[in-house]
Amino acid sequence: GMSVSDLMDSMEYGPAPESAAEALAWLVDRGDRFGQFIDGGFTSPGETFDSKNPATGEVLALITQANAADVDAAVEAARKAQPKWARLSGHQRARHLYALARQIQKHARLLAVLETLDNGKPIRESRDIDVPLAARHFYYHAGLAQLLEDERPGHAPVGVCGQIIPWNFPVLMLAWKIAPALAAGNTVVLKPAEWTSLTALMFADICAQVGLPKGVVNIVTGDGAVGEMIVAHPGVDKIAFTGSTEVGRKIRAATAGTGKRLSLELGGKSPYVVFEDADLDSAVEGLVDAIWFNQGQVCCAGSRLIVQEGVAEAFLDRLKARMAGLRIGDPLDKCIDIGAMVDPAQRDRVAAMVAEGAAEGTVYQPDTALPDRGCYFPPTLISGLSSASALMQEEIFGPVLVSTTFRTPGEAVQLANDTRYGLAASVWSESINVALDIAPRLAAGVIWVNGSNMFDAAAGFGGLRESGFGREGGWEGLMEYLGPERAAKALKPYARPDRAPEPEPADPLDRTAKMYIGGKQARPDSGYSRAVHGARGGLAGHAGLGNRKDIRNAVEAARKAQGPWAAASGHNRAQVMYYIAENLSARAEEFAARISALTGAQKTSAKAEVEQSLDRLFTYAAWADKYDGQIKGVPLRGTALAMNAPVGVIGALCPDEAPLLGLVSVMAPAIAMGNACVLVASEPHPLAATDFYQVLDTSDVPGGVVNIVTGPHAPLAATLAAHMDVDAVWSFSSSDISGEIEQAAAGNLKRSWVNHGKARDWAGPEGAGREFLRAATEVKTVWIPWGA
Ligand code: NAI
Repeated sequence: GMSVSDLMDSMEYGPAPESAAEALAWLVDRGDRFGQFIDGGFTSPGETFDSKNPATGEVLALITQANAADVDAAVEAARKAQPKWARLSGHQRARHLYALARQIQKHARLLAVLETLDNGKPIRESRDIDVPLAARHFYYHAGLAQLLEDERPGHAPVGVCGQIIPWNFPVLMLAWKIAPALAAGNTVVLKPAEWTSLTALMFADICAQVGLPKGVVNIVTGDGAVGEMIVAHPGVDKIAFTGSTEVGRKIRAATAGTGKRLSLELGGKSPYVVFEDADLDSAVEGLVDAIWFNQGQVCCAGSRLIVQEGVAEAFLDRLKARMAGLRIGDPLDKCIDIGAMVDPAQRDRVAAMVAEGAAEGTVYQPDTALPDRGCYFPPTLISGLSSASALMQEEIFGPVLVSTTFRTPGEAVQLANDTRYGLAASVWSESINVALDIAPRLAAGVIWVNGSNMFDAAAGFGGLRESGFGREGGWEGLMEYLGPERAAKALKPYARPDRAPEPEPADPLDRTAKMYIGGKQARPDSGYSRAVHGARGGLAGHAGLGNRKDIRNAVEAARKAQGPWAAASGHNRAQVMYYIAENLSARAEEFAARISALTGAQKTSAKAEVEQSLDRLFTYAAWADKYDGQIKGVPLRGTALAMNAPVGVIGALCPDEAPLLGLVSVMAPAIAMGNACVLVASEPHPLAATDFYQVLDTSDVPGGVVNIVTGPHAPLAATLAAHMDVDAVWSFSSSDISGEIEQAAAGNLKRSWVNHGKARDWAGPEGAGREFLRAATEVKTVWIPWGA
């Protein structure tokens, strides 16, 4: 007789395809040709292109390539609808979002099949992951809309949001974009990726079915050229983009200086770190989810295996055995593990990358037969690569895993972080001490302990470094769609005193105030200084003219200091800041006199500036150990921690108008949160800052945590913004250098927070608070499942 295991081996595999009939009928119903969804209705189709099923190559429908007039009409509809939508109560918006969630659930099967037909992903995934998570996103954000007024008072929606999404999770990315935008009172113009527009068009149908006010959601279709039109449109207040780092960089540059808000969710090369004490079978299963989920076409795919040397061979053996068992074929088949890639162009790109880079390592592909038509690529493992090889560094975006080994935990962290990306990471160890020690040290916005590819609407998702900025999900994601409610009357712009003194060789008697770099006073590299005059015209002193070399030295010092400073406890950082305040307080009279002489401020208001600076130091010393993260209620046995981590090295152009208070208001939140900073002092009144060195010097601030450079804002800002080792640039300068800063920031996609030359009331509530703390931190989400 046959044993059960014989049977399991010899049994014929019987396919169990999901029926496509309902989805195909829906397409036929709409004439197989789609216009766009603008102002609550479908336009008639214009110039069209084919949308194909990658599993068969068959044309599913014709999609309109939007033209400029379409984009104009969509933006105009969104503009018109926005104030009314924002005026609804949170509860009323919540009811709309709730209705969308319900309707997604009601049409779940149709949406899942349509998604699989259009994208090629296994029906198991679209049915169990993409569509349920999309519905969950609308439910969760219905709740945020409901609570918004009470929980985040003093905020206003951004306005009209242009949203551009990729083809790998069409309906899920749509939900991630539209739900928070609508919850916060914005209206949207969304463009799906040209390969996968169908579920977005079906969602448009759903919007109409639930009676969403017209113009709140507009869907335009077409390729990157349509994306560019949305990005460039003057009627759009914010761009939210998910896609390649290359296009993200273009969008950063295109929006530079326009005042448009921007969030970018870009590529990754996420490490998957396996320690020798990991549960290896679970780690193999986790890796299957990490890199073969959605054919590896996942921005946070665990695509870089880093396994401890002692178990590497055993682990790779088990992995290869598992790869040989992966079922590849018809995505509508409910038992399929690996479906079709999205498009032949994408498959060919992946194949070319593998062919080019493979020589350096050892390639394994199971000999599973691929279907004889359709767009398939086998699961692939390339081992023995060095960290520097191209395949270890570049995003492949296909079912291709690369691997390397490590010996010590330190080496694991170093290898994991040896990338320009920083989207996600996994760490596997049965030791809670090892796992929770390593997790926060990984340079990533999302970290999975003993798991991979876990997502939920409550947990923030988004990257560090060149993986982009901003978060999606949770309150932190909602904040990307809100801004501070500003006073109706803007402050008068600050006018710099109309004197531009000539540079002169630094004073031979060395009365030039120096820069403050790495905890030491440093002469300006240029050897030049400029005379600084007081308000009455008299010579107040000389300040060094900083140049790019000074900035580079300051950044280097800041980088060295930042790690240890961040590792110090919030309590310790607070102590240092209280000490700064104490030392400033001891010299309050002297600082007030200096400010008054420089700016011409009345004695009393100069005194008030010093007092407010002390207040500010106390405020952020208080925050240093209280800007806590959150524990997110995610639907799994376990939890997701949202940790507020420092951004890193922040370069800041300090306000001209409040030479001491402005500098302190910028410095204090940055260092309280564990950042190191390079501050460029007030351009017209740098001497208040140079006096401040002495206060820092006597206050136990570790060298390099605060660096101060004096000189003209524009060129120094350009150097800071272009520097690849600076993580964020803030500008509160009265020169409008925001465009130059954001343009240069595209290089390493550093965060920017710029004022467009506008003044801020530093003495008032907008001079301090959570807006500063948020800018000084990155939310890192650490998922910790449990089970005994
Ligand atoms: P892509 O970044 O070109 O496309 C994403 C979206 O941006 C699409 O809707 C596209 O029409 C639009 N777009 C393209 N150019 C634009 C522009 N200049 N301005 C505004 N919008 C524009 O990604 P693509 O070409 O589909 O894939 C190329 C590579 O990008 C992939 O192989 C993969 O490496 C990476 N990628 C990463 C994704 C992620 O989620 N991180 C998603 C998709 C692609």
